[in-house]
Amino acid sequence: MNISDIKHLITDRTAKFLARGTHPLLIDGQWVQAESGQTIDVINPANEEVIAKVASAGKADVDKAVAAARRAFDQGPWSKMRGAERERLLMKLADLLEANAQSFAEVESLDNGKSAGMAQAVDVAVAVDTIRYMAGWATKIEGATSDISVPFAPQAEFVTFTRREAVGVVAAVVPWNFPLLLAVWKLAPALATGCTVVLKPAEQTPLTAIMLGELIAEAGFPPGVVNIIVGDGPSAGAPLVSHPGVDKVSFTGSTEVGKLIGKAAVENMTRFTLELGGKSPVIVLDDCDPATAAAGAAQAIFFNHGQVCCAGSRLYVQKKMFDRVVADVADIAKSMALGHGLDPASRMGPLVSREQMDRVCNYINIGMSQGANVVTGGGRAGEKGYYVQPTILTNVNADMRVVQEEIFGPVLTAMPYDDIEEVAALANNTHFGLGASIWSNNLSKVHRLIPKIKAGTVWVNCHSMLNPAMPFGGYKQSGIGRDLGKASLDSYLETKSVYIAV
Ligand code: NAI
Ligand code: MG
Repeated sequence: MNISDIKHLITDRTAKFLARGTHPLLIDGQWVQAESGQTIDVINPANEEVIAKVASAGKADVDKAVAAARRAFDQGPWSKMRGAERERLLMKLADLLEANAQSFAEVESLDNGKSAGMAQAVDVAVAVDTIRYMAGWATKIEGATSDISVPFAPQAEFVTFTRREAVGVVAAVVPWNFPLLLAVWKLAPALATGCTVVLKPAEQTPLTAIMLGELIAEAGFPPGVVNIIVGDGPSAGAPLVSHPGVDKVSFTGSTEVGKLIGKAAVENMTRFTLELGGKSPVIVLDDCDPATAAAGAAQAIFFNHGQVCCAGSRLYVQKKMFDRVVADVADIAKSMALGHGLDPASRMGPLVSREQMDRVCNYINIGMSQGANVVTGGGRAGEKGYYVQPTILTNVNADMRVVQEEIFGPVLTAMPYDDIEEVAALANNTHFGLGASIWSNNLSKVHRLIPKIKAGTVWVNCHSMLNPAMPFGGYKQSGIGRDLGKASLDSYLETKSVYIAV
């Protein structure tokens, strides 16, 4: 499946984009190659072939990108631009992205392995909505006034108020599971609040960030406001997050790297927010229709091939319905056609990389060696492409690694329980706390469970629903801070208190 083989499946824009030479970095409004001249191969996970090359940034490129973002923030036109003008530029960017949605979805599919149809309906559409939602906040950044009295100067009068000011240069480091969408989750609030950005997409999936950079230039953002550097964690990510010219780091990725970033950031008192891993429970109560719950549970784990930070990877079903629900989820898993993301008949694509496929298969083996039963699936599918069979493990307990650790693939563990006290304890028995879903129409049981669950999002009769208006983030080791919603703006703003003696 090289470009000539898939030409009939992709738009001209996608074919032209892929046919270019080495994709450069975006620094200070210029497209430039890396100082070292090094490149990274971009691999199509469906057939393991190289589809593009991108410049691979190192410390010298990071320094240039941060300097450009610093200049644009401290001296450039961006610092003087009114909120209404930032809103207009963001709205224009959203329109351009919407107009090119199909091509973005195709490139995301070829780069990541996900379905192009899903990418257009979810990744691109939610990215467009997020930009528009955040654009609206650009004109609604408000401080507050207070009437104060000072006990040691009782005659004095003051006017006091707070101002919200953009924090400055934002380093956005994002992973490969939703490359465009997660870049936008960071970019849109940063730009709405008046920050400038250095974006580092994941080295596995850099292409839609580069395409977005082209639209940012086309929309008319001044040079240096958004800089895009591709590179791996040690060579580009680490120097970026520890750079003294960066004021805030916004990261989505593994808990392991999140901890490294937090430590590096504290050294410079750089502000940071971390959206990290999860091991989200799906809790099925025995009042609900088993087929509906099974369809929901399958969607919760198999969407995006399980490579979702809030994937419902632990299924808990009340005892009398356990066998029936697990059998139904297994039937759905067995019926899923594996195939590349441009094939509309495919229901699940490959995982993003050989590394991820090996990691997921290794976890399945660990589960089996610790005594789990494989209901369906169990390993790699085929010999070409990074496909893993949708897999369900039963006979598991809370101490097993497959129940405690994030697998980040299409692997579900299923366990029965007796009552809601027990399932609340089981659901919370992990270091993570990103999401959870409850499947039931018993109002009082649902409302008794919601406050017991230690997670940033609880869904009822749905899973992985997201909206730009709703904050998203984790309890415990699933992260610090929130993306999306009005709440996310706080992490891109400082608060300045002003006292005027009058
Ligand atoms: P990762 O956390 O290493 O990568 C995420 C981003 O961080 C990438 O852009 C990477 O280049 C960058 N990075 C890596 N090391 C860095 C460093 N020292 N300083 C600054 N940036 C750095 O994730 P990876 O290795 O791709 O996946 C490993 C596991 O992490 C997955 O199996 C999954 O469990 C979890 N993960 C969770 C995600 C989520 O959405 N919460 C997304 C991706 C991975
Ligand atoms: Mg890593």
